[in-house]
Amino acid sequence: MAVHVVQHPLIRHKLGIMRKHTISTKDFRELASEVARLLTYEATKDLETEKRTIQGWSGPVEVERIKGKKITVVPILRAGLGMMDGVLDLIPGAKVSVVGLYRNEETLEPVRYYVKLANKMDERIALILDPMLATGGTLVLTVDLLKEAGCTNIRGIFLVAAPEGIRRLEKAHPDVDVYVAAVDEKLNDIGYILPGLGDAGDKIFGTK
Ligand code: URA
Repeated sequence: MAVHVVQHPLIRHKLGIMRKHTISTKDFRELASEVARLLTYEATKDLETEKRTIQGWSGPVEVERIKGKKITVVPILRAGLGMMDGVLDLIPGAKVSVVGLYRNEETLEPVRYYVKLANKMDERIALILDPMLATGGTLVLTVDLLKEAGCTNIRGIFLVAAPEGIRRLEKAHPDVDVYVAAVDEKLNDIGYILPGLGDAGDKIFGTK
C-alpha cells in the first residue's frame, strides 16, 4: 500500500487555512473542493493513455486519450460530497457511486444505510472521497463493498489522515493506495484527528 502525502505548495497553503478555528463555512467548503481537485491530479497521474490520429486544423495529428478503465468517484456520505465537485471538475465524465455510512459514536464503527454504485464496477477505477481518514473503519467497509461489486482498482483521496486509520487500511486492504494532503499526529479518545480539521462534515455543511 502506498500513502502519497502530496507536497504541492498550493495544497500546503490551502490546508493551512482550513485548520483555522474561525474559518467560515463558505471558505472551508471552497477549499475542500480545491484541495480535492489538486489531490485528484496526483491520484490520476498513472492513468494510461493511448495514441490516435485525429484531423487537426493543419491536417492529421497524433493525440493521446485516457485508455482502459473508466473512473467512478465514491463520495462517502455526507462529508465526501464536499470533495466531489473538485474531482468532477477534472473528470467530468466520471460516474458517481454513493456510499452512505455513519459512525456509531459509541463503538466508532461504521453503519451502512445507503449504497448506490455505478454499473460495471469491475471495469472501473474507484476514487473514494472522504475528507478525514480517522479510525479507518468507514474506509475499510467501503472498500469491502467495492470489492464485493467486483472493483479491483481502488484508491482513496482524503484531506487529512491519522496514522491509526492508515494502519487499519493497510492491514485490511494493502492493495489500496491513498492520496492525502497531510498525515496528522493521532486520534483523540472520540476518534477525531489531532490536530486535524474538526468535524469536516459540519464545517462543509454549516451544521453543528
Ligand atoms: N471525522 C471528522 O469529521 N473529523 C475527524 O477528525 C474525524 C472524523
